[in-house]
Amino acid sequence: MKIHSSPMDIKIIAGKIRDLEWQVAFLISLLFHPISAQLHYSIVEEMKQGTAIGNIAKDLGLNVEELSLRKFHIVSRGRMQCCNVNLDNGDLYIAERIDREEICGGKQTCIISFEAVIENPLHLYTIKVEIQDVNDNMPSFSTTHFEIVISESALPGVRLSLLQAQDPDLGTNSVQDYKIAANEYFSLRIKVNKEGIKSPELILEKALDRERQDLYEIILSALDGGKPPKTGTIIIKIIVLDVNDNFPQFNKDTYKISLNENTPVGFLVLQLNAVDEDEGLNAQITYSFQDVPETLYSTFHLDPNNGTLSVIGDIDYEVTDRYELTVKAKDSGGLADHCKIIIDITDENDNAPEITITSFSATIPEDSPPSTIIALINVHDLDSEQNGEVVCEISENVPFQLILPSANYYKLVSITNLDREKISSYNITITAMDNGSPRLSTNNTVQLNISDVNDNPPVFEKGSYIVYVEENNPQGTSIHIIHASDHDINENAKITYSVISSNIDSIPVSSYVFINSVTGVIYAQRSFDYELLREFQFQVMAKDSESPPLSSNVTVRICIIDKNDNAPKILYPSPDTEGSALFEFIPHSAEKGYLVTKVIAVDADSGHNAWLSYHLIQAQEPSLFNIGQYTGEIRIGRNLPDMESLRQRIVVLAKDNGVPSLSSTVTLSFVVAENFQQAIPEIKRQASNSDSSPNVTFYLVVSIALISIVFIVTVMIVAISKFHAGMSF
Ligand SMILES: *[C@@H]1O[C@H](CO)[C@@H](O)[C@H](O)[C@H]1NC(C)=O
Ligand SMILES: *[C@@H]1O[C@H](CO)[C@@H](O)[C@H](O)[C@H]1NC(C)=O
Repeated sequence: MKIHSSPMDIKIIAGKIRDLEWQVAFLISLLFHPISAQLHYSIVEEMKQGTAIGNIAKDLGLNVEELSLRKFHIVSRGRMQCCNVNLDNGDLYIAERIDREEICGGKQTCIISFEAVIENPLHLYTIKVEIQDVNDNMPSFSTTHFEIVISESALPGVRLSLLQAQDPDLGTNSVQDYKIAANEYFSLRIKVNKEGIKSPELILEKALDRERQDLYEIILSALDGGKPPKTGTIIIKIIVLDVNDNFPQFNKDTYKISLNENTPVGFLVLQLNAVDEDEGLNAQITYSFQDVPETLYSTFHLDPNNGTLSVIGDIDYEVTDRYELTVKAKDSGGLADHCKIIIDITDENDNAPEITITSFSATIPEDSPPSTIIALINVHDLDSEQNGEVVCEISENVPFQLILPSANYYKLVSITNLDREKISSYNITITAMDNGSPRLSTNNTVQLNISDVNDNPPVFEKGSYIVYVEENNPQGTSIHIIHASDHDINENAKITYSVISSNIDSIPVSSYVFINSVTGVIYAQRSFDYELLREFQFQVMAKDSESPPLSSNVTVRICIIDKNDNAPKILYPSPDTEGSALFEFIPHSAEKGYLVTKVIAVDADSGHNAWLSYHLIQAQEPSLFNIGQYTGEIRIGRNLPDMESLRQRIVVLAKDNGVPSLSSTVTLSFVVAENFQQAIPEIKRQASNSDSSPNVTFYLVVSIALISIVFIVTVMIVAISKFHAGMSF
């Protein structure tokens, strides 16, 4: 700004003096008093109150007394009164604190001008006081903190503008320099523009890493050119912005986990925790399986957000004993890390042993020797180690045992000889048990049949047979049935019966009996006659039909039972003897009880059938004789009548005790006389009477003679023909 010294051009510039009324009044006064003089002083600001600037009286060429007399005074302008005059000595002194920056701001030249008036005559003086700057202000920033945001990926050399400091002082008293504390990341550069204004900039010296340090605080100091310089400071906060420059990271490359099989669904296997040193989205990690087989997805679930690996399917050691998975952890920026998870499955005893019968003879013959192999059994357990160790047993009380010829294979062999007739089939229960805890077992029952071998001979029901057959049986009658059984079965038990050939009284037994080879019924081949053959015996063989056949023999004794088929035969008196023999002489003197004679009869039968009794069935004088019923003795029953000769005739019946009984009769004749001679004529007469059929005897004699002749002729013919046959050789 230019300062005009002409009174007409006076303009009041002082920033704080803006009293319009005062200006108007002053200008009016100037119009009437165009006399003026100018005084010029120079002071520094901030001088002490009362400090003399100059001597007005002297400078105006006036006496000190004159000042008072002529009423010298400074035209007051409002409240602001920088200077005043001491009327006693004429000194112009500082009336109040003068701050250049307050009065003139940034103006290079700061002048306060004011008027002084003296009267008688009236004079108007312009007094100008130039105020020199002193360094009374320190640089300052508009704020105490200043924030700068920078990406951690910013390259070294990047510039960051900073705030300028302000210092109202002038020239060198204003801001001259900036400083920061030494720092490896940032350096300070001061830029000077065309107007010469300095502004500070930070220059990035070294790449930043948010993950190491995400905030820097730098104190920027602004210095002015005073001596000593004054400073102002500001805190510069440098906030490092994240860049996705860090990979997620698992805390291990490989996780090894052991997991029981049959672990329930939902079990938390592993909590993965990958760390990404970045922040925000750059640190947001998503987990996923990487290149794992499809089946694994149904076994394990990996939570993409929180990294928990849990079981969602069956864990079966027998299917897989180890899982190897690769897991990827990826942040939102696409950076990823991988880790491997090895899950070893621990076996549990969840499989019962399996029994496989590799080969099995369902039937073995009963004559199989001990140690015959019956089956080959394979046992297997899907579990491993102890859980898969299998021991095999068979049911007790069977004549078999298990032999372990090689791992997992058992031979089932017989221990003893077998007998189908005792036990024809065995249910052999094979139990396989593993060694796990709890122990699991499996049963398998095989039915072994023992086939028949012809090792049992037929056995007759009885040790021997006694068969009673009544005589006179019709030829071909079945007289008995005998039965043998065989413990074997089927063909081995098919029995045929036969009579072992032998002779009975030099006649083959086959002409006596015949046996039905199938039914065992014995038939009589002839009619038996007890009186000829009372008993005989023969042997029957029962033979089974397999070869070689086995046989048993049994003795059959046939006892012929008597039947009453023979009539008693009277031996005495012989019915055959003619004439006198039939007569008995009884002397007159014979008394009651006299034994006349005795009838003797025999019976070819036996027993009751031969038990004879005698009865008198015809008598001229029944009371005269009686007969002993069992003795056959004929005695006189009463005293004989007194007569010269008496002829008596009785018929005696000899009867057996059979049913029906048979009997024979004989006729006895008695002659009662004084002596034997007297009796003879009687006897002769009797004989001729009784011989009623002489012709019969005659014919009998003739026929016997004829038969004898025929016999002799026959014998001769046979002898001659034999003789001829002998000659022809
Ligand atoms: C063997 O088992 C079968 C079938 O269960 C049964 O019919 C048979 O009676 C059993 N045999 C023995 C000798 O226990
Ligand atoms: C039965 O008798 C027959 C003929 O005498 C003989 O060959 C066979 O050995 C006998 N059987 C027995 C078991 O004695």
